[in-house]
Amino acid sequence: MKIVRTERDLRNTVWGWRGSGDRMVFVPTMGALHEGHLSLVRLAKKYGERVVVSIFVNPTQFAPGEDLDAYPRTEVEDSRLLEAEGVDLIYIPDPQTMYDVHHATSVTVGGVAKGLETDYRPTFFDGVALVVTKLFNRVQPDTAIFGEKDYQQLATIRRLVEDLDMPIKIIGAPIARDEHGLALSSRNAYFDEDGLTLARNLNVIMKKCAADMREGQHVDKATDAAKQALLDVGFSSVDYVEVRSPNSLTVLEGGYLNGPARVLVAAHCPNQGNSVRLIDNFAV
Ligand code: PAJ
Repeated sequence: MKIVRTERDLRNTVWGWRGSGDRMVFVPTMGALHEGHLSLVRLAKKYGERVVVSIFVNPTQFAPGEDLDAYPRTEVEDSRLLEAEGVDLIYIPDPQTMYDVHHATSVTVGGVAKGLETDYRPTFFDGVALVVTKLFNRVQPDTAIFGEKDYQQLATIRRLVEDLDMPIKIIGAPIARDEHGLALSSRNAYFDEDGLTLARNLNVIMKKCAADMREGQHVDKATDAAKQALLDVGFSSVDYVEVRSPNSLTVLEGGYLNGPARVLVAAHCPNQGNSVRLIDNFAV
């Protein structure tokens, strides 16, 4: 397994592969890797001969006051995990080379990228779309894998690639969860035992919400009940519990399920006098 940090080294390696006809599959990450990321890597292997993983804690997707500095950085352990999975190359770009002082271009996706997360993190998807565009241009993969854990992010990347004619196939990977159903996340590392116990209520409440809607309950009633249940078990606030169509993420008409849908949640879980923002989603 190679670890490269410069664009030149990256290009030298991937052009060699391309020359020999190998298909390249790319898994962008911010590191602090867990089983969720590794499940993406395993899926990646099914789509091509070469797997590239990037590790880059992207400053442009963190708003001032968010956890950019505190975000866990575990490069040595990450490399060990990726080597054990048989990854071919890790790309760890230097932050200075990613955004130089003259950088002046933004990438804004509309439609699916508006609402839900952007109601609370207005510039988040601008940062994601920008860094993913840059990483795609540098790595030039045939296929890229994104987790359904970040469902709106996956929808945003699909839109970006289609709208800008990027010749890259986007694959969504199922959500990896712990044995209590909590979606794995790098931010779970922040939790102490009490925080973790509380956080594990989220999937239980959301699964009940999904089941109630499937059994014919009005969407507003089910989502309001889920919000209240989250507050009752001890979540400090709920940003949203919303039901959307699975691809365009548009609001459902009529208030009752009339086909496949997705329920998406973001809520704040108290932890050591602070709080950790959790996002999750479920098929309904
Ligand atoms: P990060 O949070 O490190 O996640 C990298 C990829 O792993 C994303 O596609 C995310 O959806 C996926 N992932 C995380 N937890 C998962 C889980 N429990 N199950 C399945 N997939 C999971 O998402 C980002 O980084 C960044 O926004 C990035 C796309 C790298 C751009 O900076």
